[in-house]
Amino acid sequence: MATNPGIVRVALIGCGSISRAHVAGALKHPGKIRYTALCDVLPERMEERSNQLGGVSLRFTDWKQMFKSAKKEFDAVDICLPHHLHGSAIMDAAAAGKHILCEKPMCTSLKQADEIAAAISKAGVIYMSAHNQLFMPAVHEAKRMIQAGEIGRVLWVRSADCFRAPMIARQNWGWRANLINQGGGELIDTGYHPTYRLLYLVDSPVVEVRSVMGRYLQEIDGEDTASVQVRFANGTIGEILTSWAFPLPYGTHQIHIIGEEGQLFGSDNILYHLPVGWSEPAKKSFPQVDTFEQEILHFAQCVRERKRPIHSVQEGRSVLEVILKATEDAKGW
Ligand SMILES: NC(=O)c1ccc[n+]([C@@H]2O[C@H](COP(=O)([O-])OP(=O)(O)OC[C@H]3O[C@@H](n4cnc5c(N)ncnc54)[C@H](O)[C@@H]3O)[C@@H](O)[C@H]2O)c1
Repeated sequence: MATNPGIVRVALIGCGSISRAHVAGALKHPGKIRYTALCDVLPERMEERSNQLGGVSLRFTDWKQMFKSAKKEFDAVDICLPHHLHGSAIMDAAAAGKHILCEKPMCTSLKQADEIAAAISKAGVIYMSAHNQLFMPAVHEAKRMIQAGEIGRVLWVRSADCFRAPMIARQNWGWRANLINQGGGELIDTGYHPTYRLLYLVDSPVVEVRSVMGRYLQEIDGEDTASVQVRFANGTIGEILTSWAFPLPYGTHQIHIIGEEGQLFGSDNILYHLPVGWSEPAKKSFPQVDTFEQEILHFAQCVRERKRPIHSVQEGRSVLEVILKATEDAKGW
Protein backbone atom coordinates (compact mmCIF):
# COMPACT_ATOMS: atom_id res chain seq x y z
CA MET A 1 0.00 0.00 0.00
CA ALA A 2 1.33 3.48 -0.91
CA THR A 3 2.25 5.49 2.16
CA ASN A 4 1.01 9.05 2.49
CA PRO A 5 3.28 10.57 5.17
CA GLY A 6 0.30 12.55 6.50
CA ILE A 7 -1.75 9.44 7.25
CA VAL A 8 -1.09 7.31 10.30
CA ARG A 9 -1.77 3.65 9.40
CA VAL A 10 -3.09 1.61 12.29
CA ALA A 11 -3.51 -2.09 13.06
CA LEU A 12 -6.49 -2.74 15.34
CA ILE A 13 -5.89 -5.45 17.95
CA GLY A 14 -9.20 -6.52 19.46
CA CYS A 15 -12.21 -5.85 17.22
CA GLY A 16 -14.95 -5.98 19.90
CA SER A 17 -17.40 -3.40 21.14
CA ILE A 18 -15.23 -0.35 21.96
CA SER A 19 -13.22 -0.68 18.76
CA ARG A 20 -16.41 0.30 16.89
CA ALA A 21 -16.22 3.76 18.53
CA HIS A 22 -12.48 4.11 17.74
CA VAL A 23 -13.08 3.18 14.10
CA ALA A 24 -16.09 5.50 13.84
CA GLY A 25 -13.92 8.38 15.08
CA ALA A 26 -11.14 7.58 12.61
CA LEU A 27 -13.56 7.29 9.69
CA LYS A 28 -14.35 10.99 10.12
CA HIS A 29 -10.68 11.81 9.38
CA PRO A 30 -9.62 9.62 6.45
CA GLY A 31 -6.79 12.00 5.56
CA LYS A 32 -5.19 11.64 9.00
CA ILE A 33 -5.68 8.10 10.22
CA ARG A 34 -6.60 4.81 8.57
CA TYR A 35 -6.97 1.22 9.83
CA THR A 36 -5.00 -1.06 7.51
CA ALA A 37 -4.90 -4.36 9.46
CA LEU A 38 -7.16 -6.19 11.91
CA CYS A 39 -6.47 -8.76 14.60
CA ASP A 40 -8.95 -10.74 16.71
CA VAL A 41 -9.25 -14.35 17.79
CA LEU A 42 -12.82 -14.27 16.45
CA PRO A 43 -12.98 -13.94 12.62
CA GLU A 44 -16.57 -12.65 12.81
CA ARG A 45 -15.41 -9.65 14.87
CA MET A 46 -12.85 -8.82 12.17
CA GLU A 47 -15.53 -9.22 9.52
CA GLU A 48 -17.76 -6.76 11.36
CA ARG A 49 -14.97 -4.18 11.74
CA SER A 50 -13.88 -4.68 8.13
CA ASN A 51 -17.45 -3.98 7.00
CA GLN A 52 -17.49 -0.80 9.08
CA LEU A 53 -14.20 0.26 7.46
CA GLY A 54 -15.35 -0.53 3.91
CA GLY A 55 -13.10 -3.61 3.59
CA VAL A 56 -9.78 -4.55 5.21
CA SER A 57 -8.13 -7.68 3.81
CA LEU A 58 -5.14 -7.92 6.18
CA ARG A 59 -6.56 -9.99 9.04
CA PHE A 60 -4.82 -12.02 11.75
CA THR A 61 -5.94 -14.16 14.66
CA ASP A 62 -2.53 -13.76 16.38
CA TRP A 63 -0.90 -10.35 16.85
CA LYS A 64 2.61 -11.87 16.99
CA GLN A 65 2.03 -13.26 13.50
CA MET A 66 0.75 -9.83 12.39
CA PHE A 67 3.97 -8.15 13.62
CA LYS A 68 6.00 -10.79 11.79
CA SER A 69 4.31 -10.81 8.41
CA ALA A 70 2.60 -7.42 7.98
CA LYS A 71 4.92 -5.06 9.85
CA LYS A 72 5.39 -2.71 6.90
CA GLU A 73 1.64 -2.18 6.49
CA PHE A 74 1.08 -0.10 9.64
CA ASP A 75 2.81 2.55 11.78
CA ALA A 76 0.81 2.11 14.97
CA VAL A 77 -1.48 -0.22 16.87
CA ASP A 78 -4.77 0.44 18.61
CA ILE A 79 -5.19 -2.08 21.44
CA CYS A 80 -8.80 -2.84 22.42
CA LEU A 81 -8.29 -6.19 24.14
CA PRO A 82 -9.48 -7.61 27.50
CA HIS A 83 -7.43 -6.09 30.32
CA HIS A 84 -5.07 -9.00 31.10
CA LEU A 85 -3.75 -8.91 27.50
CA HIS A 86 -2.90 -5.19 27.32
CA GLY A 87 0.58 -5.51 28.84
CA SER A 88 1.86 -8.25 26.53
CA ALA A 89 0.38 -6.63 23.40
CA ILE A 90 2.06 -3.32 24.34
CA MET A 91 5.42 -5.03 24.89
CA ASP A 92 5.21 -6.79 21.51
CA ALA A 93 4.17 -3.60 19.72
CA ALA A 94 7.03 -1.64 21.30
CA ALA A 95 9.50 -4.38 20.31
CA ALA A 96 8.20 -4.07 16.74
CA GLY A 97 8.78 -0.29 16.85
CA LYS A 98 5.08 0.60 16.55
CA HIS A 99 3.37 3.61 18.12
CA ILE A 100 0.65 2.59 20.57
CA LEU A 101 -2.82 3.71 21.56
CA CYS A 102 -4.06 1.39 24.31
CA GLU A 103 -7.46 1.21 25.94
CA LYS A 104 -7.64 1.45 29.70
CA PRO A 105 -6.01 0.13 31.85
CA MET A 106 -2.44 0.18 30.51
CA CYS A 107 -1.91 -3.20 32.27
CA THR A 108 -2.91 -4.87 35.51
CA SER A 109 0.24 -4.75 37.69
CA LEU A 110 2.80 -2.08 38.61
CA LYS A 111 5.64 -4.48 37.75
CA GLN A 112 4.29 -4.72 34.22
CA ALA A 113 3.78 -0.94 34.13
CA ASP A 114 7.47 -0.44 34.90
CA GLU A 115 8.47 -2.93 32.21
CA ILE A 116 6.24 -1.08 29.74
CA ALA A 117 7.81 2.27 30.69
CA ALA A 118 11.29 0.88 30.01
CA ALA A 119 10.22 -0.76 26.72
CA ILE A 120 8.51 2.38 25.39
CA SER A 121 11.49 4.52 26.32
CA LYS A 122 13.91 2.08 24.65
CA ALA A 123 11.81 1.81 21.47
CA GLY A 124 11.28 5.59 21.28
CA VAL A 125 7.68 5.15 20.17
CA ILE A 126 4.66 7.28 21.07
CA TYR A 127 2.44 5.72 23.74
CA MET A 128 -0.99 7.14 24.47
CA SER A 129 -3.31 5.96 27.23
CA ALA A 130 -6.81 6.02 25.74
CA HIS A 131 -8.32 8.29 28.40
CA ASN A 132 -11.15 9.55 26.22
CA GLN A 133 -13.01 11.50 28.90
CA LEU A 134 -10.16 14.03 29.09
CA PHE A 135 -11.73 15.35 25.89
CA MET A 136 -15.09 15.96 27.58
CA PRO A 137 -15.83 19.70 27.35
CA ALA A 138 -16.68 19.97 31.09
CA VAL A 139 -13.34 18.40 32.06
CA HIS A 140 -11.41 20.45 29.53
CA GLU A 141 -12.94 23.75 30.65
CA ALA A 142 -12.59 22.92 34.37
CA LYS A 143 -8.89 22.21 33.83
CA ARG A 144 -8.46 25.48 31.95
CA MET A 145 -10.21 27.46 34.71
CA ILE A 146 -8.20 25.78 37.48
CA GLN A 147 -4.93 26.50 35.66
CA ALA A 148 -6.01 30.11 35.09
CA GLY A 149 -6.59 30.44 38.86
CA GLU A 150 -10.30 31.24 38.41
CA ILE A 151 -11.39 29.33 41.55
CA GLY A 152 -8.19 29.86 43.54
CA ARG A 153 -6.45 27.07 45.42
CA VAL A 154 -8.24 23.75 44.86
CA LEU A 155 -9.31 22.12 48.15
CA TRP A 156 -11.60 19.24 47.19
CA VAL A 157 -12.47 17.36 43.98
CA ARG A 158 -15.02 14.64 43.43
CA SER A 159 -15.05 12.60 40.21
CA ALA A 160 -17.88 10.14 39.68
CA ASP A 161 -19.22 7.69 37.12
CA CYS A 162 -22.20 5.60 38.17
CA PHE A 163 -24.90 3.71 36.33
CA ARG A 164 -27.08 0.66 36.88
CA ALA A 165 -25.64 -1.77 34.34
CA PRO A 166 -28.36 -3.90 32.73
CA MET A 167 -26.13 -7.02 32.57
CA ILE A 168 -26.48 -8.52 36.10
CA ALA A 169 -26.09 -12.28 35.24
CA ARG A 170 -22.51 -13.57 35.24
CA GLN A 171 -22.56 -15.00 31.70
CA ASN A 172 -23.34 -11.53 30.29
CA TRP A 173 -20.14 -10.09 31.76
CA GLY A 174 -17.79 -12.38 29.75
CA TRP A 175 -14.14 -11.72 30.65
CA ARG A 176 -15.18 -8.86 32.95
CA ALA A 177 -16.68 -11.29 35.49
CA ASN A 178 -13.26 -12.74 36.24
CA LEU A 179 -10.71 -11.05 38.54
CA ILE A 180 -7.71 -12.17 36.45
CA ASN A 181 -8.98 -11.11 33.02
CA GLN A 182 -10.51 -7.90 34.32
CA GLY A 183 -7.61 -7.11 36.68
CA GLY A 184 -10.11 -6.27 39.44
CA GLY A 185 -13.76 -5.26 39.51
CA GLU A 186 -15.73 -2.18 38.49
CA LEU A 187 -13.06 0.31 39.64
CA ILE A 188 -10.51 -0.81 37.04
CA ASP A 189 -13.17 -0.68 34.33
CA THR A 190 -15.74 2.13 34.45
CA GLY A 191 -14.13 3.47 37.64
CA TYR A 192 -10.94 4.00 35.71
CA HIS A 193 -12.50 7.09 34.01
CA PRO A 194 -13.28 9.10 37.17
CA THR A 195 -9.83 8.12 38.49
CA TYR A 196 -7.87 9.62 35.60
CA ARG A 197 -10.17 12.64 35.55
CA LEU A 198 -9.38 13.24 39.24
CA LEU A 199 -5.61 12.92 38.72
CA TYR A 200 -5.77 15.21 35.68
CA LEU A 201 -7.73 17.92 37.52
CA VAL A 202 -5.59 17.88 40.66
CA ASP A 203 -2.20 17.34 38.99
CA SER A 204 -0.22 16.60 42.17
CA PRO A 205 1.36 13.35 43.42
CA VAL A 206 -0.94 10.99 45.33
CA VAL A 207 0.18 10.42 48.93
CA GLU A 208 -2.69 8.39 50.42
CA VAL A 209 -5.54 6.21 49.16
CA ARG A 210 -8.48 4.91 51.24
CA SER A 211 -11.40 2.95 49.97
CA VAL A 212 -14.54 0.94 50.67
CA MET A 213 -16.23 -1.31 48.13
CA GLY A 214 -19.37 -3.34 47.72
CA ARG A 215 -21.07 -5.76 45.35
CA TYR A 216 -24.80 -5.14 45.32
CA LEU A 217 -26.22 -6.22 41.99
CA GLN A 218 -23.78 -7.66 39.47
CA GLU A 219 -22.70 -11.32 39.44
CA ILE A 220 -18.97 -10.66 39.01
CA ASP A 221 -16.00 -11.69 41.16
CA GLY A 222 -14.89 -8.13 41.94
CA GLU A 223 -16.75 -5.13 43.39
CA ASP A 224 -19.55 -3.46 41.44
CA THR A 225 -19.27 -0.26 43.50
CA ALA A 226 -16.33 1.68 44.95
CA SER A 227 -15.93 4.79 47.05
CA VAL A 228 -12.32 6.03 47.16
CA GLN A 229 -10.64 8.90 48.98
CA VAL A 230 -7.31 10.29 47.83
CA ARG A 231 -4.97 12.76 49.54
CA PHE A 232 -2.64 14.66 47.24
CA ALA A 233 0.77 16.15 48.02
CA ASN A 234 -0.57 19.68 47.49
CA GLY A 235 -3.19 19.05 50.21
CA THR A 236 -6.20 18.59 47.93
CA ILE A 237 -8.68 15.90 49.01
CA GLY A 238 -10.07 13.79 46.17
CA GLU A 239 -13.04 11.45 46.02
CA ILE A 240 -14.02 8.84 43.45
CA LEU A 241 -17.52 7.34 43.40
CA THR A 242 -18.22 4.66 40.82
CA SER A 243 -20.86 1.98 40.40
CA TRP A 244 -22.53 -0.54 38.12
CA ALA A 245 -25.28 -0.97 40.73
CA PHE A 246 -26.82 2.51 41.00
CA PRO A 247 -26.94 5.77 39.05
CA LEU A 248 -25.14 9.00 39.84
CA PRO A 249 -26.74 10.30 43.06
CA TYR A 250 -29.58 12.69 42.13
CA GLY A 251 -28.44 16.28 41.78
CA THR A 252 -24.72 15.41 41.61
CA HIS A 253 -22.30 15.66 38.69
CA GLN A 254 -19.43 13.77 37.06
CA ILE A 255 -16.97 16.34 38.38
CA HIS A 256 -17.24 18.77 41.30
CA ILE A 257 -14.36 20.99 42.37
CA ILE A 258 -14.26 23.33 45.36
CA GLY A 259 -11.63 26.03 45.36
CA GLU A 260 -10.98 28.86 47.82
CA GLU A 261 -12.70 31.28 45.44
CA GLY A 262 -15.51 29.20 44.02
CA GLN A 263 -16.89 25.90 42.79
CA LEU A 264 -17.05 24.17 39.41
CA PHE A 265 -19.37 21.28 38.71
CA GLY A 266 -20.83 19.57 35.69
CA SER A 267 -20.99 16.61 33.32
CA ASP A 268 -20.32 16.01 29.62
CA ASN A 269 -20.70 19.36 27.84
CA ILE A 270 -22.12 21.44 30.72
CA LEU A 271 -20.06 23.16 33.43
CA TYR A 272 -21.41 25.37 36.24
CA HIS A 273 -19.32 28.03 37.97
CA LEU A 274 -20.35 29.28 41.42
CA PRO A 275 -17.93 31.98 42.64
CA VAL A 276 -17.83 32.55 46.43
CA GLY A 277 -20.64 34.93 47.39
CA TRP A 278 -22.92 34.08 44.44
CA SER A 279 -26.27 32.42 45.20
CA GLU A 280 -26.77 30.87 41.73
CA PRO A 281 -24.13 29.32 39.47
CA ALA A 282 -23.38 30.52 35.93
CA LYS A 283 -23.93 27.78 33.36
CA LYS A 284 -21.53 27.18 30.47
CA SER A 285 -22.76 24.94 27.62
CA PHE A 286 -20.40 23.60 24.99
CA PRO A 287 -21.12 21.72 21.75
CA GLN A 288 -21.35 17.94 22.22
CA VAL A 289 -18.06 16.20 21.50
CA ASP A 290 -17.37 12.63 20.35
CA THR A 291 -14.57 11.94 22.84
CA PHE A 292 -13.37 8.88 20.89
CA GLU A 293 -13.03 10.96 17.73
CA GLN A 294 -11.00 13.57 19.61
CA GLU A 295 -8.88 10.86 21.22
CA ILE A 296 -7.96 9.20 17.92
CA LEU A 297 -7.30 12.56 16.26
CA HIS A 298 -5.00 13.54 19.12
CA PHE A 299 -3.16 10.24 18.82
CA ALA A 300 -2.66 10.69 15.05
CA GLN A 301 -1.39 14.22 15.62
CA CYS A 302 1.04 13.09 18.34
CA VAL A 303 2.41 10.36 16.06
CA ARG A 304 2.79 12.72 13.10
CA GLU A 305 4.45 15.45 15.18
CA ARG A 306 6.29 13.10 17.58
CA LYS A 307 4.55 14.88 20.46
CA ARG A 308 3.84 13.55 23.96
CA PRO A 309 0.12 12.70 24.27
CA ILE A 310 -2.08 14.30 26.93
CA HIS A 311 -1.77 11.07 28.97
CA SER A 312 1.04 8.60 28.34
CA VAL A 313 2.81 5.80 30.27
CA GLN A 314 3.39 7.84 33.42
CA GLU A 315 -0.30 8.69 33.83
CA GLY A 316 -1.32 5.13 32.90
CA ARG A 317 0.86 3.93 35.78
CA SER A 318 -0.40 6.56 38.25
CA VAL A 319 -4.05 5.71 37.60
CA LEU A 320 -3.34 2.00 37.98
CA GLU A 321 -1.49 2.63 41.25
CA VAL A 322 -4.48 4.45 42.78
CA ILE A 323 -6.81 1.64 41.68
CA LEU A 324 -4.58 -1.13 43.04
CA LYS A 325 -4.07 0.70 46.35
CA ALA A 326 -7.82 1.28 46.66
CA THR A 327 -8.48 -2.39 45.96
CA GLU A 328 -5.90 -3.40 48.58
CA ASP A 329 -7.31 -0.97 51.16
CA ALA A 330 -10.86 -2.26 50.66
CA LYS A 331 -9.92 -5.91 51.22
CA GLY A 332 -12.41 -7.78 53.34
CA TRP A 333 -15.58 -6.19 51.99
N1 LIG B 1 -13.26 4.11 26.91
C1 LIG B 1 -14.41 3.54 27.16
O1 LIG B 1 -15.42 4.18 27.44
C2 LIG B 1 -14.47 2.03 27.08
C3 LIG B 1 -15.73 1.40 27.00
C4 LIG B 1 -15.75 0.00 26.88
C5 LIG B 1 -14.56 -0.72 26.88
N2 LIG B 1 -13.37 -0.07 26.99
C6 LIG B 1 -12.11 -0.83 27.04
O2 LIG B 1 -11.88 -1.44 25.76
C7 LIG B 1 -11.23 -2.69 25.95
C8 LIG B 1 -12.04 -3.77 25.28
O3 LIG B 1 -13.34 -3.81 25.82
P1 LIG B 1 -14.59 -4.25 24.95
O4 LIG B 1 -15.80 -3.85 25.69
O5 LIG B 1 -14.45 -3.77 23.55
O6 LIG B 1 -14.43 -5.84 25.01
P2 LIG B 1 -14.91 -6.91 23.96
O7 LIG B 1 -14.93 -8.20 24.66
O8 LIG B 1 -16.15 -6.45 23.27
O9 LIG B 1 -13.72 -6.90 22.86
C9 LIG B 1 -12.48 -7.50 23.07
C10 LIG B 1 -12.06 -8.21 21.80
O10 LIG B 1 -10.76 -8.78 21.98
C11 LIG B 1 -10.77 -10.04 21.32
N3 LIG B 1 -9.70 -10.88 21.86
C12 LIG B 1 -9.67 -11.57 23.03
N4 LIG B 1 -8.50 -12.21 23.17
C13 LIG B 1 -7.76 -11.92 22.07
C14 LIG B 1 -6.45 -12.26 21.64
N5 LIG B 1 -5.66 -13.07 22.37
N6 LIG B 1 -6.01 -11.78 20.46
C15 LIG B 1 -6.80 -10.99 19.69
N7 LIG B 1 -8.06 -10.61 20.05
C16 LIG B 1 -8.52 -11.08 21.23
C17 LIG B 1 -12.16 -10.60 21.57
O11 LIG B 1 -12.48 -11.62 20.65
C18 LIG B 1 -13.01 -9.35 21.41
O12 LIG B 1 -13.47 -9.17 20.08
C19 LIG B 1 -11.08 -2.87 27.45
O13 LIG B 1 -9.80 -2.42 27.81
C20 LIG B 1 -12.13 -1.96 28.04
O14 LIG B 1 -11.84 -1.49 29.34
C21 LIG B 1 -13.31 1.28 27.07
